[in-house]
Amino acid sequence: MSLVYKADPARGAEWAALLAAKRPDLPFHVWPDTGDAAAVRFLAAWVPPADLMGTFPNLEVLFSVGAGVDQFDLSALPPQVPLVRMVEPGIIDAMAEYATMSVLALHRDLPAYLVQQREERWKQIRVRTAASRGVGVLGLGELGQAVLARLAPFGFRLSGWSRSRKAIPGVACHAGAAELPAFLAGCDILVCLLPLTAETRGFLHAGLFAQLPPGAGLVNVGRGGHLVQQDLLAALDSGRLSAAVLDVAEPEPLPAGHPFWRHPRILLTPHIASQTQPETAVEALLANLDRHARGERMLGLVDRARGY
Ligand SMILES: NC(=O)c1ccc[n+]([C@@H]2O[C@H](COP(=O)([O-])OP(=O)(O)OC[C@H]3O[C@@H](n4cnc5c(N)ncnc54)[C@H](OP(=O)(O)O)[C@@H]3O)[C@@H](O)[C@H]2O)c1
Repeated sequence: MSLVYKADPARGAEWAALLAAKRPDLPFHVWPDTGDAAAVRFLAAWVPPADLMGTFPNLEVLFSVGAGVDQFDLSALPPQVPLVRMVEPGIIDAMAEYATMSVLALHRDLPAYLVQQREERWKQIRVRTAASRGVGVLGLGELGQAVLARLAPFGFRLSGWSRSRKAIPGVACHAGAAELPAFLAGCDILVCLLPLTAETRGFLHAGLFAQLPPGAGLVNVGRGGHLVQQDLLAALDSGRLSAAVLDVAEPEPLPAGHPFWRHPRILLTPHIASQTQPETAVEALLANLDRHARGERMLGLVDRARGY
């Protein structure tokens, strides 16, 4: 019975050292080394091999090394093999940091000041209080809720939107399509932390931007596929949106010359809002292997019908 890791090899080496210390009885291989492929029961992958079951005929569990699973073709995965996404504190903490940084950057007009600095222009923009600003998070899962908790001390009006209803102290929670307009109307800054599914692809589009307060700011830390790029450019041009912080794009990296690279009101980072941390990820994976051995439900088990 063995575990194979198929993602960044440098981090694979870190996983190897951690597993050797924590679970020396579990043979571990970093792709392309697989050991005896018939003995591989567990695969931790960013992208699985094309012929997954042909490669590992006795696979029992497929783990995503990332929080999302949109890189997997769910229809191509055999139904008997559970797919488990990564839920670990390293990803969650880093996302809470990045989203807070982005919300504060938009709240304190950082994109406008970066432009002014390049132009050697000393011009003050009136400071707005946090209490006068509504910050809303699309997606109230592991990450969305952690972001809202980290934002709470700043004093923004906080709100969130999800498929099923949530109750979070200090957060106005909205659920389902019927409550989306009321949610959007209160978002001076909107943070996208939805998973990318058939339902959420292209979710950040002109029709949604039109329902935000004029001059709202956008933070996309979900996936590039959530955003209709031309609609963002048009909304920034018209002033419907004031600025955007984008950590994700489609494709990644963006091609040379893409308008996002040099747009004065887009802050762009290369998908670094959060990263799986080997130490805590290995702990989380081992805890899930224990749950699996006991016949319990694993944390982060993906519902294939919903796509997340
Ligand atoms: N940029 C980065 O570095 C980075 C890093 C990690 C993750 N991410 C992205 O963040 C995403 C969210 O991660 P997570 O761990 O918070 O996921 P999660 O725990 O599965 O939460 C997803 C949330 O989105 C809601 N949702 C999904 N589809 C919806 C729909 N059609 N309508 C309304 N709400 C919907 C869910 O509603 P319910 O609660 O009702 O199910 C849930 O609240 C990941 O899928 C990934 O794409 C990005």
